[in-house]
Amino acid sequence: MAAAPAPPGVYQRASETADYLRSTVPAELRSPKVAIVCGSGLGGLADTIHAEPVFSTPYSNVPNFPQSTVVGHAGKLIFGLIGPAKLPVMLLVGRAHFYEGHEMELVTFATRVCKLMGIETMIVTNAAGGLNPDYEVGDIVLLNDHLNMPGLMGFHPLRGPNVDEFGVRFPPLSDAYDLELRQRVHKAWQKLGLGQAKRRLHEGVYAFVSGPSYETRAECRMLRTFGADVVGMSTVPEIVVARHSGIRVLAFSLVTNKAVLEASTRGDEAAIQNMSKQELDEYLSKGKANHEEVLEAGREAAKDMQALVKQVLSDLGAA
Ligand code: HPA
Repeated sequence: MAAAPAPPGVYQRASETADYLRSTVPAELRSPKVAIVCGSGLGGLADTIHAEPVFSTPYSNVPNFPQSTVVGHAGKLIFGLIGPAKLPVMLLVGRAHFYEGHEMELVTFATRVCKLMGIETMIVTNAAGGLNPDYEVGDIVLLNDHLNMPGLMGFHPLRGPNVDEFGVRFPPLSDAYDLELRQRVHKAWQKLGLGQAKRRLHEGVYAFVSGPSYETRAECRMLRTFGADVVGMSTVPEIVVARHSGIRVLAFSLVTNKAVLEASTRGDEAAIQNMSKQELDEYLSKGKANHEEVLEAGREAAKDMQALVKQVLSDLGAA
């Protein structure tokens, strides 16, 4: 009996999806050079796209695309024109996370499709917890490096046979976050006068963790000791796969909560001995991350982040 044919590999499936998009998206929007991945609560960029022409489709209509399952992460793909220069862009609103149970290959599938669509620059945004004590909720962090915690433990998006059509077996990541693009961001920040607001722009290191639980206090201290400034559950797989295939990347975190770095309270701590249950609950809830808080901080600061991305895009369009 003849062996069953091998299932299509990721290159074949991504090609199929790119072919579908090329045959579906209107000609004037079909060849963007820039893709933007919008993280939790950061999909508002979609509203800044010119109304006409625009092409929008739910991920459920796109062959082979993962289906996002998280509240606040409605998945849709938008092709449109942005800013005064009407720069063609591809917007990915919502993403697949590793914690949803997707394999790394599916988490990074959209990035492969971007490459095959001719994307040269990818801008990635996310919500993250601040580990650097200097960071406040609502601050924006331009990523300049990362710690791929699941990757270091074996859950690496490039594990398995190398797909030579995309890139080399051992891609370097020592300069993954494009310096020239970061320079543009600082200039755009000055130009927009966003520094006058309370919000600050930092550069820092992102620790990628698998989630879905938020980190324990000890884990926060460990990540901080390792050199991380923010922590989150996305972005790094996409960055790694983008860099593997030569896409330039720029990534922003919005600090939506401050990670708790203080050690747990001991059971014999004098201060808590006479507290009521309610007082104890309040005491323990200080600084605890929750999903609602993350979405709320995202809503408030998202506008500045959108303005910043738009300004960088305008400058890119004019370059
Ligand atoms: N930890 C991990 N992911 C996050 C956090 C956090 O504190 N905040 C937003 N996303």
